[in-house]
Amino acid sequence: MLKAAVIGVGSMGRNHARVYREMENGVKLVAVADSDEAATARVGITYNVAHYTDYVKMLDEQKPDLVSLAAPTGLHKVIGTELIERGIHLLIEKPLAKTVDEGQALIDLARKKGVILSVGHIERFNPAIMELNRRLKEGMAGRIYKIHAQRLSPYPSRIKDAGVVIDLASHDIDLMRHLMGNDEIVRLYGETLQSINSDREDMFNGLARFRSDAIGVLDVNWVTPTKVRRLAITGARGLFRCDLLSQELFFFENETAPSQWDTLSVLHGVSEGNVLGIRIRRHEPLAAELKDFTNAVANGQEPTVTGEDGLQTLRIALDFVQSAKSGEPISLKRMAVT
Ligand SMILES: NC(=O)c1ccc[n+]([C@@H]2O[C@H](COP(=O)([O-])OP(=O)(O)OC[C@H]3O[C@@H](n4cnc5c(N)ncnc54)[C@H](O)[C@@H]3O)[C@@H](O)[C@H]2O)c1
Repeated sequence: MLKAAVIGVGSMGRNHARVYREMENGVKLVAVADSDEAATARVGITYNVAHYTDYVKMLDEQKPDLVSLAAPTGLHKVIGTELIERGIHLLIEKPLAKTVDEGQALIDLARKKGVILSVGHIERFNPAIMELNRRLKEGMAGRIYKIHAQRLSPYPSRIKDAGVVIDLASHDIDLMRHLMGNDEIVRLYGETLQSINSDREDMFNGLARFRSDAIGVLDVNWVTPTKVRRLAITGARGLFRCDLLSQELFFFENETAPSQWDTLSVLHGVSEGNVLGIRIRRHEPLAAELKDFTNAVANGQEPTVTGEDGLQTLRIALDFVQSAKSGEPISLKRMAVT
């Protein structure tokens, strides 16, 4: 039986506690810790587990095998280091850390200590994304021309230590890396705006160029009074449209594309064809994410989202912020695979 604990049981962490509590096989939630006494007591009492305001005391007394770390991003490095030093496997909520150096240090230490490190890029476990990924790999879209992500939200006043690019757009950057497979971003350009925060951006629009020539478009902000999470992928054979909130996936077929697609086929135009609503077997993404992580711990294998994935995504997010500050596009030659 693996003993699980959660550090930081605010808006996200309390869901980790619930999901661990509901796990049936081989994992037991033993404790939660949060510096806010009311928060830790509320979650501890709800799930009938030990609760602490001092996470070090919790680690000393409960000796968990694995931990979800869902404290604010600025604390990921210091708390993550303490966990890894003790040999505790950990899933760090996204983004991995505040800076590339901090993220790299966590990865290096985890490798040295033989600790499994995963990052909470939860959208990979959205069933609509999983189905989309499967169909892209089968070649249903043909050559991909464009991937367009839209993630618009009201303002989350609780997030005090990260701007909208690393906090929110990191979901879409990770999805682009995931769905584009071996393709990599080789050039990017960002524009940001600070409309509500005085010190951090809360609106972001980004453009990315992939090695394959595909174009990535990101439209992300905290200034929209409703929640939108959409992804569209335009390919030679048609358009995928995915709603990540309702977990729906549609395919708009390009009728002009040859039905038997091969690399020699020439596309002579684009016209409206059939529209396919793709059946999705819905599940809770967080439950799938934590199952993936605990399986990785139980079997000593790599999780679906590695620390390295988290770091690459953070790098790209910070490059977008830098590009917006300088007004210049950034070439990412370091990532181009020869
Ligand atoms: N995967 C997702 O979809 C998703 C969604 C929201 C947040 N997050 C991530 O989760 C993390 C937390 O965000 P949130 O929205 O839950 O924030 P939050 O403010 O609601 O929760 C953070 C909690 O950490 C606690 N905390 C602060 N300092 C602590 C310490 N030293 N020891 C223990 N606990 C401490 C706070 O009291 C608070 O309860 C962030 O990294 C955020 O990016 C991920």
